[in-house]
Amino acid sequence: MRDVAVIGVGCTEFGEHWSTSFRDLFVKAGTLALEDAGVSGEKLDALYVGNMSAGRFVEQEHIGALIADYAGLASNHVPSTRVEAACASGGLAFRQAVIAVASGMEDVVVAAGVEKMTDVGTGASVDMLASAADREWEGFAGATFPGLYAMIANDYMHRYPLTREQLAEVAVKNHENGSKNPIAQFRNRITVDTVLSSSLVADPLRLFDCSPITDGAAAVVVVPLERAHEFTDSPVKVLASAQASDTIALHDRRDISTLDATVAAGKRAFARAGLTHKDIDLVEVHDCFTIAEICAIEDLGFCKKGEAGRLTAEGATALNGDLPVNTSGGLKACGHPVGATGIKQICEVVTQLRGEAAGRQVDAEVGMAHNVGGTGATVVVHILGA
Ligand code: COA
Repeated sequence: MRDVAVIGVGCTEFGEHWSTSFRDLFVKAGTLALEDAGVSGEKLDALYVGNMSAGRFVEQEHIGALIADYAGLASNHVPSTRVEAACASGGLAFRQAVIAVASGMEDVVVAAGVEKMTDVGTGASVDMLASAADREWEGFAGATFPGLYAMIANDYMHRYPLTREQLAEVAVKNHENGSKNPIAQFRNRITVDTVLSSSLVADPLRLFDCSPITDGAAAVVVVPLERAHEFTDSPVKVLASAQASDTIALHDRRDISTLDATVAAGKRAFARAGLTHKDIDLVEVHDCFTIAEICAIEDLGFCKKGEAGRLTAEGATALNGDLPVNTSGGLKACGHPVGATGIKQICEVVTQLRGEAAGRQVDAEVGMAHNVGGTGATVVVHILGA
């Protein structure tokens, strides 16, 4: 296996894009990543595109081919593959690109993610997202993702000492970070009171506990580490790529407050990188809801079960804390265009490791990205190093 490096990153702004089409969002992000890498499209060997549900959001399937065509790669017949794992589609697309390069089969590969969610109303969007849960046992019974994560939150708060105020601090911190990120959907600072007085979505989760519905795209360029210096002086090495699965339905889990796939993927990533938790300087976790960030910090092993709420309220996960979490603003404030999120996490970690994160820069040499599909049926974890 060859070592792999990221040599370029690019993201569109996340938000509501009324005048930019699905395909143009992708082309914008891909162009930014290629420019950043100093690579021309003719040099590309392969393309992997994370996308959850373009068929339902914009009535377009055959995304791999569409993207290759609109990126001007069809005349070179560049192989282009869509990767789907619900909200983990982006992280998994990155993993496929890493595997392709590590295996020696491809050299210059783009991993991208794109989703355009706001062309349909909230009700339709929530229903489409719910198709990534177990349709027969959860969706048909009326469960949505806010509802499923609310069940996790209720179970967690019943068993562990997490207060409603501590949960709100996750959103306060992520909006603070989002206020410093020029691509973030929400750049407004909020208080605990903003969260607690926002409308109830699924008890105990309120509007500001939820990630929003978002349009956006992100792309990265990966090459073998041995060739990285042909393109850039600041390659970021992929130290580990790990993936794990779990039951798709929440009720079949051993314990609904612990995402076992996060535990498994995290352990595999640390073992592959030969690193421990102390080596990680920042982590982008999958905070689709505030409770998901609490679970992720604990399930990745950064603290014991039941401690993440207190640590968040004490500032341990803030930009100047011991372990900055979601420096981008996370899914909560940066936004969550589901197929693009996993790639945006990689973009953020790379940007931080290159020292280019401006107002939200932290001191970092090693970073982690954690991307979840559904309530944890697919989890992808990557560790990257400067
Ligand atoms: N956080 C903060 N503000 C939000 C928000 C969020 N998550 N979602 C919407 N808003 C704001 C909007 O900007 C808008 O503000 P404005 O009135 O000042 O313009 C207002 O709230 C209403 O927006 P709207 O789009 O009508 O919200 P909504 O009520 O239709 O949808 C949710 C809100 C929470 C139901 C929706 O964002 C949602 O379903 N989120 C979860 C997505 C999800 O499940 N993703 C997959 C995770 S696994």
